[in-house]
Amino acid sequence: MRVDEFGADPADLTPLTGAALLTPAHQHPSGVVLSPARRGEFVAWAECCDGFLIEDDYDGEFRYDGRPVGALQALDPERIVLAGSVSKSLAPGLRLGQLVVPPTLRVPVTAAMRESGGGVSVIEQLTLADLVARGDYDRHVRRVRTVYRRRRAELADRVGALTGLRLVGAAAGLHALLPLPSAEYERRLISTGEYVGLRLHGLHASGYRHPPDTSAPAALVLGYATPAPHAWGQALDLLGEVLEAEGLRAGPRGTRP
Ligand SMILES: Cc1ncc(COP(=O)(O)O)c(C=O)c1O
Repeated sequence: MRVDEFGADPADLTPLTGAALLTPAHQHPSGVVLSPARRGEFVAWAECCDGFLIEDDYDGEFRYDGRPVGALQALDPERIVLAGSVSKSLAPGLRLGQLVVPPTLRVPVTAAMRESGGGVSVIEQLTLADLVARGDYDRHVRRVRTVYRRRRAELADRVGALTGLRLVGAAAGLHALLPLPSAEYERRLISTGEYVGLRLHGLHASGYRHPPDTSAPAALVLGYATPAPHAWGQALDLLGEVLEAEGLRAGPRGTRP
């Protein structure tokens, strides 16, 4: 699906589509929040065309602007699967998450999971359940939310001070986008990053453009959660070096190069 400033666009869905996978609270990777009108359009499509929506709420714990986004699933629990994960809140290596599945899909989804061999260790599930029941999961999320909010602000400040550019996307999750003049510029920044020891991702370089189109807008996808506390300051410094080395500056209107 195409994505614009209102989020994913349902225009290309047809009565034969079957299902659509969405990240409504924080589109990945653009960071756009699905607009209320688009939410209505997706639900109308699902209801009229016997379709299903899969709401991938992959980073819903992390919102920094005090405006939590409600679950799309509440609009039609018969047609919308809500998927969550602890990959962002705890660690991706745990492979733990949850699905809220409409009653009509419970049997086929359970069978498909069994067939795929995608079971999850019972010990790890029980450990997570214990963490949640004791309130430790919530305490952990509250603590890291503060850390990531601060990191995002520091990243925005550093980028702004060096380039005059603003990060784009909702103040949420663990990544932000830095718009760039071209795919070629993106490639140069990533390779300069490699040279100084900083791994960078981009919309083109990381395969987010489907189909690949070098004339489509370019951006760095800046994740700010991975560096360990002792390495965060150095990661910011390295990013600053890369941006300065490539002379990235805002254009005359300030927001875009
Ligand atoms: C868009 C999106 N959905 C879901 C996930 C979580 O996937 P998993 O639970 O398989 O790690 C991620 C990454 O953490 C993601 O970026």
